[in-house]
Amino acid sequence: MVFYFTATGNSLYAARQLDPNTMSIPQVMRCGCLRRFSDETIGVVYPIYGHRPPELVQRFLREVALDTPYLYIIPTYGRRYANAVDLVADICRASGKEPAYINCLLMADNYLPAFDMDEEIKLEKHVDEQLAAIKADIGARKRYIQPVTDADRQAHEQFLAYEQELPDKQLGGLVYATDKCIGCGVCARVCPGGCIRVEDSKAHFDYTHCQGCLACAHACTQKAIVLKIPEPNPNARYRNEHITLKDIVYANNQTRN
Ligand SMILES: Cc1cc2nc3c(=O)[nH]c(=O)nc-3n(C[C@H](O)[C@H](O)[C@H](O)COP(=O)(O)O)c2cc1C
Repeated sequence: MVFYFTATGNSLYAARQLDPNTMSIPQVMRCGCLRRFSDETIGVVYPIYGHRPPELVQRFLREVALDTPYLYIIPTYGRRYANAVDLVADICRASGKEPAYINCLLMADNYLPAFDMDEEIKLEKHVDEQLAAIKADIGARKRYIQPVTDADRQAHEQFLAYEQELPDKQLGGLVYATDKCIGCGVCARVCPGGCIRVEDSKAHFDYTHCQGCLACAHACTQKAIVLKIPEPNPNARYRNEHITLKDIVYANNQTRN
């Protein structure tokens, strides 16, 4: 069994390659009734946001019991994972979980303020080769925790300083809908935090549970969801080529429709 969080499909694609029995973390947390899972191996795959797991993934790791002799964690990232391994290992250990394997997976970077997404997707990141190696490790029940260096920890300090420059001093709440919004509601259905409602044919945001994942911006059919800070190409949006919009809705939808 493998649990995943995804905004644009990278982590879902990776999770599917590792184990066909995938479960969405936002849906598990929404249901609230399932608080214990048991299996021979349990995986957790998620995108890093400022090197950390999304807030929902942090809550999942803290609150849900995972009974397994082999817990593996695959953070996906686009450029720099810094001390992501330490950060997730600390969260696990605080709730009595001891991961056997943590290995970061380089994929397309979907952080819109940093890259022109149209250029980013041209980069060859050898995802399938990395996945094949990780799958072989997991098949062999290899015990491995990717090392973290002092330079990695300093990189995280740099990120924390950058975060303080953001409008709300956090990655959440960076998005809003422009007048191009037609009120189709796709953004509401891909939002894992249930932050968006459509009223008077326009998307309205309540950022309380915003994960900062940018799923809404990437999925908007009108490119009407933009960022409060400059982005190199507001017309470039992304979804992993192996993943459909329906997959993202299935993973994240917190609305009734
Ligand atoms: C708000 C935000 C913050 C991010 N922070 C980082 C980061 O610190 N380092 C990094 O290498 N990638 C970062 N990324 C890129 C994602 O981790 C990466 O693209 C991931 O594979 C996306 O997975 P998904 O398609 O499953 O959502 C960030 C993306 C977003 C939206």
